[in-house]
Amino acid sequence: MSQKALFLKSKQATFELGSKEIPKPGPGEVLVKNYAAALNPVDWKIQAYGLFLDESRYPVVLGSDTAGVVEEVGAGVARVSKGDRVTARGTFLTNNQAGFQQYTLTNSNFVAKLPDTITFDEAASLPVGVDTASIGLFGPKDGNLTFPDKLDTYKGQTIFILGGSSSVGHYTVQAARLAGFSTIITTSSLAHENNLKSLGATHVIDRHGSPDQIVARVKAITSDPIRIVYDAISEDDTQKTAWAVLAPGGHLVLTLPPSVRTATGDTRTLKSVHGSPFNPVNAEFCKRWWEKLPEWLAEGKIKPNKVDVLPGGLEGVSAGVERFKASKVSGVKLIVRPFEGP
Ligand SMILES: NC(=O)c1ccc[n+]([C@@H]2O[C@H](COP(=O)([O-])OP(=O)(O)OC[C@H]3O[C@@H](n4cnc5c(N)ncnc54)[C@H](OP(=O)(O)O)[C@@H]3O)[C@@H](O)[C@H]2O)c1
Repeated sequence: MSQKALFLKSKQATFELGSKEIPKPGPGEVLVKNYAAALNPVDWKIQAYGLFLDESRYPVVLGSDTAGVVEEVGAGVARVSKGDRVTARGTFLTNNQAGFQQYTLTNSNFVAKLPDTITFDEAASLPVGVDTASIGLFGPKDGNLTFPDKLDTYKGQTIFILGGSSSVGHYTVQAARLAGFSTIITTSSLAHENNLKSLGATHVIDRHGSPDQIVARVKAITSDPIRIVYDAISEDDTQKTAWAVLAPGGHLVLTLPPSVRTATGDTRTLKSVHGSPFNPVNAEFCKRWWEKLPEWLAEGKIKPNKVDVLPGGLEGVSAGVERFKASKVSGVKLIVRPFEGP
């Protein structure tokens, strides 16, 4: 049986609709029928600049975020069954596991059942954002904060999150609330203030201005030491702001490579997160996180991003990539529906 899939046939080619076999799940794997798939900045960076994948990997299928219905499970899978509504983490590292196609094969540890209140379009916004937020804060090789299944672990403490309106930032704010931080300060365009406060931010400060101006806005809120800063944007200026706010002994989480320089004797640490559960160093942590995710979704403790559905089925990815290029993605996740379109 074949399915529709969206290919990049060579580096920096344009996307082309094609067909490919529907894979069978092996032991521990799940095959998901994708009713929605989300775009990520990495998809346009690969398409536009040819990053991350060798020539030998092409033709390639991109996309890492999916949601739909479990079509088939492999031997030993207990977490989900055929017919369950789920969100599932994919990866562009192997074509069968990628998201821009009608069926995605994934590891059953990175699949979560959905409550009826969450649509497939919304659910497709979850995997990459949730993984990048949670690994960065709680991953043992990253922020190493205590897993947020106990109340009030970080009561009385402050976290600073740059870029609350980004997809990763949106989930980082919620993860910080789960961890019990009393003060959650985030930068954003102020149009997103109410939404961010509903997710747990206690203070939303305007993201526009120089690093010095943004640091001053944070200092006007608190003089407490801030020992954990998450920079969801990680451009040069946001990294400067983040580093200037971070207290001695603190840790800075970045989503892109570091541009700040650490001085000898500085007790602060920084690390660029690799937001993938398929990286073996993250696998155990992500297994535990994804096991809790259905409960947090059902309780409304983790809410999906707002979404913008692109017309044209899988071919809508091309228009989405243009929006990333033009920086016209603000406070939403871009979604395509693989069973719509030509
Ligand atoms: N390391 C990893 O594993 C990993 C995983 C996922 C993502 N990433 C990277 O993380 C970054 C964020 O990804 P994403 O999917 O969350 O992006 P996104 O949702 O597409 O980000 C768009 C949002 O970022 C906001 N923004 C832009 N510049 C800002 C600034 N200087 N300060 C505060 N907010 C700003 C925009 O706000 P306005 O509305 O005000 O314009 C917009 O709402 C990307 O560079 C992505 O490649 C890395």
